[in-house]
Amino acid sequence: MEGKTVLVTGSTGGIGKETARQLAALGAHVVLVGRDKNRAAAAVADLRHTSGNDNVTAITADLSRLRDVRRLAQEASDRASGLDVLINNAGATRSRRELTEDGIETAFAVNVAAPFCLTHWLMPALAASGQARVINITGGVPRGRIDLNNLQGEKSYVGLSFYNQTKLAQMAMSYRFDQELAATPVTLNVAYPGHAYTSMNRNLTVGTYPPLARPIVPLLRLAMPVVYGHRALLRATRSSVYLASSPEVREASGTYFNSKAKPTPWPDAVLDGTTRNTIWQLCETQRDRATAA
Ligand SMILES: NC(=O)c1ccc[n+]([C@@H]2O[C@H](COP(=O)([O-])OP(=O)(O)OC[C@H]3O[C@@H](n4cnc5c(N)ncnc54)[C@H](OP(=O)(O)O)[C@@H]3O)[C@@H](O)[C@H]2O)c1
Repeated sequence: MEGKTVLVTGSTGGIGKETARQLAALGAHVVLVGRDKNRAAAAVADLRHTSGNDNVTAITADLSRLRDVRRLAQEASDRASGLDVLINNAGATRSRRELTEDGIETAFAVNVAAPFCLTHWLMPALAASGQARVINITGGVPRGRIDLNNLQGEKSYVGLSFYNQTKLAQMAMSYRFDQELAATPVTLNVAYPGHAYTSMNRNLTVGTYPPLARPIVPLLRLAMPVVYGHRALLRATRSSVYLASSPEVREASGTYFNSKAKPTPWPDAVLDGTTRNTIWQLCETQRDRATAA
């Protein structure tokens, strides 16, 4: 990865930080993204020290705000002549429905609108690198349906179920984005990391779980740090590091990779053209509103 520039969102902690550490250890110039300046500075110092690579920098941005996403794209484009790898890793869950300043449901904003807009706004920098890779990190249970009448949680909202739907929607957006990239030197794939005990699941309130799962939440809180501790965190970087760095997947695009970095069938919900078009149009509307603001 010497000479390559990689941007990883949500990389001041959790899976994104471990992914960034490994890519820095492979010699890449790594740009970290998180919301908080102090956490970003601490992550830069940690990664420089543990990877032996001083070429680690950070940009702070809150990906739930599209004006921040736009500024992030601008700053990242200004810093390097081209961007070789973009890993849209940051994700969000909410216990109750909240709208962002853009009027978008917050989990949808971070999990779908932000990767859509960031990839779009970084496209000149990605194309300038000659051969760039975009990797979108999915999550939840990659099954089930997408309710097109509840894309913003307007009808019903259970935090983890809605998170699941946003990740399916992110996959549908990614599938379509790849088709749009056919004539460009940019590839786009989706990676499923597998479970790891991070701030995302550590901070889940009982009310975020579906009602039937709530009685076992105390047990989950005891088991998760043991079952999904540091080794699971390292395993969760496997598919994204492979997709970012391996020559084997230089040409791969429009593919969904499981936590073992193996190509795997897309969930049924993603294969429905109407679903993909509806989500794509919603993302375009959100991007165009943010561009005009
Ligand atoms: N953990 C799992 O078991 C699991 C399983 C399947 C899929 N995934 C997916 O893997 C990805 C990473 O998960 P994780 O568990 O590592 O998440 P995490 O613990 O929540 O990630 C923390 C990182 O995300 C950043 N972040 C959170 N919200 C942000 C926002 N609005 N804007 C900018 N940065 C933000 C944090 O930055 P600051 O706090 O410093 O701002 C920090 O760098 C997510 O997409 C998740 O959905 C996770």
